[in-house]
Amino acid sequence: MTRPKLLLDCDPGHDDAIAMLCAARYGDLVGITTVSGNAPLDRTTTNALLVSQIAEIDVEVHSGSERPLMADPVHAHHVHGPSGLDGPELPPLQRAVASRDAVEFLLDRAADDVWLVPTGPLTNIALALRRDPALLTRFAGITLMGGSVTGGNATPVAEFNIWADPEAAAEVFATGNPLTMIGLDLTHQVRMGHQEAVRLREADTATARMVADILDFYAASTPGARAAGAAAMHDPCAVLQVTHPELFESIRLPVAVETRGRYTRGMTVVDSRVPRSSSDRADGPFNDQVQVARHAEAARVIDLIIEAAVVPIP
Ligand code: RIB
Ligand code: CA
Repeated sequence: MTRPKLLLDCDPGHDDAIAMLCAARYGDLVGITTVSGNAPLDRTTTNALLVSQIAEIDVEVHSGSERPLMADPVHAHHVHGPSGLDGPELPPLQRAVASRDAVEFLLDRAADDVWLVPTGPLTNIALALRRDPALLTRFAGITLMGGSVTGGNATPVAEFNIWADPEAAAEVFATGNPLTMIGLDLTHQVRMGHQEAVRLREADTATARMVADILDFYAASTPGARAAGAAAMHDPCAVLQVTHPELFESIRLPVAVETRGRYTRGMTVVDSRVPRSSSDRADGPFNDQVQVARHAEAARVIDLIIEAAVVPIP
């Protein structure tokens, strides 16, 4: 199996940290860019460096946007803690960023054999698009964790990554370029928690212990996770949809991002009407090249996540 080249744009974040391990284990991780989201930029960047240090992942980390395009910065401290990675005992940081210009790195590393995987707010991607409107077409493809078809987590209708920077998300979707959307309807099918943490602690490696601590904290940190007894593996699903597409099923649907609604700002408006006649076509900035993921082989995905935590990075 060839390991696809991946560029991960992320806001670690508990699930971003696990996504990093999956990207390094099953892909060829060409670089990591960080963005403000789950925590402020200095924390998401530090966390990306720490995870790469603990897991011994040889990858450059480039920090990016410390604030959204227009919105005030928002964070998910109630989910990830003030550090953005509460739970694991983290060592002193021994690594440094390769640059503070994630946008330049994105523009420089875009190539037809590199897959772009954003798992945080889309601010870096939108800023890079403003400098190169053809950016997304220069990557092999883009699979992003964000949005939802039915209901949100940041608000009743908006998912956090889109809601944190709706203007950026709107600009990315409005390109009309093909992209795959890994939304909450998909990620809520793949949940992990204490029982997987127990399996991981049997491996007794620094990486496995870190992921076990991540799962224990993350599965207890939100009402939804507590109720389900396990946390949704949002960001790892985005990476694994690229490395193991056979485990995911998607449907092509028009999608637009709401930026002005009093109650709906940050919502991905998915036109699921079928059959859709030409007169029914959703008008406005709908992107009708979006593959909306709707089913995952959850047990197999969870096994891959556990393997990424216990088997050393190649
Ligand atoms: O809504 C889930 C998304 O928001 C995930 O990417 C999580 O890390 C947070 O960024
Ligand atoms: Ca994230």
